[in-house]
Amino acid sequence: MTQQFPDGFLWGTATASYQIEGATQADGRGESIWDRFSATPGKVLNGDTGDPACESYYRYQEDIALMKAMNSTAYRFSIAWPRIIPDGDGAVVEAGLDYYERLVDALLEAGIMPVATLYHWDLPQALQDKGGWANRATIDAFLRYTDVTVSRLGDRIPYWATFNEPWCVSILSHEMGEHAPGVQDRKIALQVAHNVMVAHGKAIPLIRDRSPNSKASIVLNMEAAYPATDSEADQKLSEIYHARYNRWFIEPIMGKGYPQNAWDDYGDDVPDIQPGDMETIQQPLDFLGLNYYTRQVLHDPNGGEGKRLHERDNDNVSARDWEIYPQGLYDLLTWIHKEFPEIPEFYVSENGMACHDTVENGAVHDPERIGYIKQHLGAVANAIDAGVPLKGYFAWSLMDNFEWACGYDSRFGLTYVDFDSQERILKDSAHWYGRVAKANAIVD
Ligand code: FCB
Repeated sequence: MTQQFPDGFLWGTATASYQIEGATQADGRGESIWDRFSATPGKVLNGDTGDPACESYYRYQEDIALMKAMNSTAYRFSIAWPRIIPDGDGAVVEAGLDYYERLVDALLEAGIMPVATLYHWDLPQALQDKGGWANRATIDAFLRYTDVTVSRLGDRIPYWATFNEPWCVSILSHEMGEHAPGVQDRKIALQVAHNVMVAHGKAIPLIRDRSPNSKASIVLNMEAAYPATDSEADQKLSEIYHARYNRWFIEPIMGKGYPQNAWDDYGDDVPDIQPGDMETIQQPLDFLGLNYYTRQVLHDPNGGEGKRLHERDNDNVSARDWEIYPQGLYDLLTWIHKEFPEIPEFYVSENGMACHDTVENGAVHDPERIGYIKQHLGAVANAIDAGVPLKGYFAWSLMDNFEWACGYDSRFGLTYVDFDSQERILKDSAHWYGRVAKANAIVD
């Protein structure tokens, strides 16, 4: 199979600061909510924490060599707020900014385009102690952090995302409680979602001002939702799921407000909205980053709340137990493009698969991961054929890392990391992905 991609298509990998950097005590870095959460017994599998992770704070040159070996033309990473402003809203630590400057300069020297995310979940704990994202003061603190960071690095970073996955920041972390800070309260979660989107809306013009030549946007995670049967109840359930998970975030950002069906469904838990908020949230985007892993199939056998079932093809799941469904990526991309043709560029900013990888004679054979990425690249190619202006793909992840509540157990990397020795081994998928990037086409 050779499916050629447009000239200039970006081939990248993605990571996030807390998942790879380690060095949580280095150079004045402050405590983050993930340091606190992972140190709390029972929150993370095997009691794993963000130390040592991949020690990328020290080993970023090795990591860039991995990217080179994969012929990457772009790298998506995130900046750790607690390294820059350890207590969230106080003194700025130059050493933190210096680290990202070294990283970005080394990427540019290697011919790899840096794509930065300002918030990939490591909120300074000191701000959480004052209410975190449920407190609107955190919005102002985020703007100051954005100002300091983009003013320093904006001349070298051409792509900025404000937030990674507001759904995870809000619902997963504040309603389901599975991620830091581990709150379980839907009303708080929806207020957090709203405040995060206000912070996004305020940050976009600030980024444009401090880095006039760069492109500014956000990274959203989406799950395609389908009814299990053609019954009215299943139809309604999948529509609500789609509205809560996907439309709740993109529609306010694109100026359509919150979707009415989800708003009604949430009842008294809907957020408080201050005058001007919806106008603030709505900012033209220079691109959209879409993270895609899986879909949901919804079934409501009795037409009642509490009976909602998730069905799926159990023979086709990752080591993370997520169903593999590439068509969902195509469906989402074409849906967003149709709804919002004004979005000028799309990137698949994360996509990948956890496998039970093992080292055999110095190699890691991961044909399932190659299959997964190949199928999803097929969906990307089809979306481009259907007219979606998709300009790049970032595999999750450059290397195995601290996979949040799953600790080091869940390996998503194209590179295998031995967390004791810190040895990195390119998996078969990394070699294959390097050939894809070189050919600018899906290869066998
Ligand atoms: C996404 C996160 C990323 C990683 C992958 C597997 O939700 O953005 O950090 O954990 O899932």
